[in-house]
Amino acid sequence: MLPKINPIETKSWKKLEAHFKQINNVHMKDMFSEDPERFEKFSVRFNNILLDYSKNRINSETMSLLNELAEDCKISDAIKSMFSGQHINETEDRAVLHTALRNRSGKSVKVDGEDVMPEVNRVLEKMKSFSGKVISGEWKGFTGKRIEHIVNIGIGGSDLGPYMVTEALKPYAVPHIKTHYVSNVDGSHIAEVLKAVNPENTLFIIASKTFTTQETMTNAETAKAWFLRAADNKEAVKKHFVALSTNTESVQEFGIDPDNMFEFWDWVGGRYSLWSAIGLSIACTIGFDHFEALLEGAHDMDEHFRTSKADENLPVILALLGIWYNNFFGAESLAILPYDQYMHRFAAYFQQGDMESNGKYVDRSGGNVNYQTGPVIWGEPGTNGQHAFYQLIHQGTKLIPCDFLAPAKTHNLIGDHHQKLLSNYFAQTEALMKGKTEEEVRQELKSAGKSEKEIEFLLPFKIFEGNRPTNSILFKELDPKTLGSLIAMYEHKVFVQGVIWNIFSFDQWGVELGKQLAKNILPELENENEITTHDPSTNGLINAYKEFRK
Ligand code: F6P
Repeated sequence: MLPKINPIETKSWKKLEAHFKQINNVHMKDMFSEDPERFEKFSVRFNNILLDYSKNRINSETMSLLNELAEDCKISDAIKSMFSGQHINETEDRAVLHTALRNRSGKSVKVDGEDVMPEVNRVLEKMKSFSGKVISGEWKGFTGKRIEHIVNIGIGGSDLGPYMVTEALKPYAVPHIKTHYVSNVDGSHIAEVLKAVNPENTLFIIASKTFTTQETMTNAETAKAWFLRAADNKEAVKKHFVALSTNTESVQEFGIDPDNMFEFWDWVGGRYSLWSAIGLSIACTIGFDHFEALLEGAHDMDEHFRTSKADENLPVILALLGIWYNNFFGAESLAILPYDQYMHRFAAYFQQGDMESNGKYVDRSGGNVNYQTGPVIWGEPGTNGQHAFYQLIHQGTKLIPCDFLAPAKTHNLIGDHHQKLLSNYFAQTEALMKGKTEEEVRQELKSAGKSEKEIEFLLPFKIFEGNRPTNSILFKELDPKTLGSLIAMYEHKVFVQGVIWNIFSFDQWGVELGKQLAKNILPELENENEITTHDPSTNGLINAYKEFRK
């Protein structure tokens, strides 16, 4: 079980509060000029990944106090508890073992005394064989054609992970298969995808842990009806529909052949499930070898996380820095900014990964926390973001810590595109750290031929105070293994933060209320009666909707 420690009652927290007062007004620029070793001190390498965290508002004392906090909150014990299959998801009484899904060590992993690895490996073998048949064309549709379109129907963790990964690893995709993702219950989503595919060569993957999620089941039924209009034969469903789920009964009820069901288990959380059968669309898109490399990269990071000292441990360092800004500087969000177009869904993926995990105000003892927990996660790829929201990061009133990610090598070496991209990547963190002084602005305006009067007017607008913190995560290339490591790095970061914030990171009760209320409202929308059962605003909106739709 995880310890139940209020972090703000620890000795290290008090020391950090005192330390914050000393460091709050120190400029990173000065810290760099005082310490030429700063980059060496505050950067770590793991395989082909370099984390440079020297552009943060920290010194050695900050890091050692943050490490003390991790110790006070018993991080090492928590890591052991997770990896050893304890039921650390207490509110659902479940183990948390996405790490077992990518366990390449050959060692057993036990849940309630039973080794789960034989089952994990059996499903992986089944995925290997199935994806192999789909890719080779051995798997045929009802008219004998090979599969050329895959439609993954799922939402949340059953969509965001596979979608993010297939986009990120597009250069590895097999050329003759196009994969589509349908998640929204808005009929426009499935309608647009169905316009682009042909029932004869389309495989629908229904991805739902529970197989009860309204959005997924509605889209799955719509897809089945569309398919049957063309096939006119229920038996043909077997060749075009497979399920990824923990719920065998409902899968069978839907009409999917149990042989075409790929299982996973209750100890796999939705937002941690891309490593499980939920990754089938990934394996069918990039091939099973590449899917395995993704698992290997994640396993490498698991081992690094499990065995490295805190001051060399990438997830732990990122987690502690996040706590430093969230709880001491009052930062409310974290921007994840990949300088790689293929990673355009990376921030969206970790929006769920982080916000569904750590968006909690009740601590592990059931009381309300008296400190801040999970930040708002957001972001877009660079350089697009630069022309959209970076203004606020540079000169706004809010402190926004940012993670800048970039590959050194591109998959598309076209002219000097990649060097231009990377020059922006380096320039942004430099600008955010250094800012621009009054002197520099004066000089610049003078050289541009501005008059004294113009200079005086423009000066305040052109000064950048800088001292805005960033992490730079530079890696060799966006290959499956590296992506696996990067995802696992963020997963573990979220875990460490949840342990320190004394919250349960692996449940998501907060999403239930909206679902329940929507269920109550649905029948009310099926008639023209005036609605009076809700609060005046909700009644007013429903009644206006009924009037507008006429
Ligand atoms: O949004 C809540 C949630 O339970 C997520 O945690 C999960 O990823 C998603 O719904 C989908 O659930 P399922 O895979 O059971 O359809």
